[in-house]
Amino acid sequence: MRKTVITANWKMNKSLVEASDFFRLLADFLAAQDTGNVEIIVCPPYPYLFLARESAVRAGFKIGAQNVSDRENGAFTGEISAAMLDSLHCDYCIIGHSERRTFYHETNILINRKLKALLQYGIKPIVCVGETLEQREEGHARDIVLKQLQVCFNEIIMTPDIVIAYEPVWAIGTGRTATPQQAQEIHALIREWLQDYNPDTAPEISVLYGGSISPENIGDLLQQPDIDGGLIGGASLDILKFKRMIITALDPGLN
Ligand code: PGA
Repeated sequence: MRKTVITANWKMNKSLVEASDFFRLLADFLAAQDTGNVEIIVCPPYPYLFLARESAVRAGFKIGAQNVSDRENGAFTGEISAAMLDSLHCDYCIIGHSERRTFYHETNILINRKLKALLQYGIKPIVCVGETLEQREEGHARDIVLKQLQVCFNEIIMTPDIVIAYEPVWAIGTGRTATPQQAQEIHALIREWLQDYNPDTAPEISVLYGGSISPENIGDLLQQPDIDGGLIGGASLDILKFKRMIITALDPGLN
């Protein structure tokens, strides 16, 4: 049975003190919960990964990076390698986020190389795909997502450790969430694509929705048959909101 995955993507937010408080409060909360089939992941900025480790181990949540270099090592100023993330015992890493595609011109081919780097070190990738508003309005949402999947996963052996996140670009940080039906339609497409790619592992791979998830809308999204969790930006910065979203995900009616 595939996991429900609730992931906090902090992006470039929080001071060291704020991060430290959050990890402590989350660990205290989770220590008193049976999280069962729900995987909780926090992806802070790189400098806080090491700090997160102690709370993560104590409370059983996982930690993830928000990006990785496609290079092994060497003269690449400012880059962080998969080997370094591995040495920090980083469990997951987000790649292909639309902010990286838009602001840092990352292509599907580069994301494919990053994916290979992560898998080489046993770090579980969270691979983001999703169309822009213009692409959706022109009726190309399905084609764009399929193309992203085909190139990002070129020559990749699918394993249950891989996580995919569907994040329509027009819903990220805009307060404009995809309706559960809009999200479900693309999730079903991704599920079909996974099934064609490798029928053995397809049922094990969690496909998350991302884009203006909040405590108010997460329940309806998780009720969709092909939505297996959330990649949450803005609302994950607030520990109270994050806890509320975890509580919804733990609802046995949804699992
Ligand atoms: P958001 O971000 O929840 O703030 O829309 C989601 C994401 O970019 O992962």
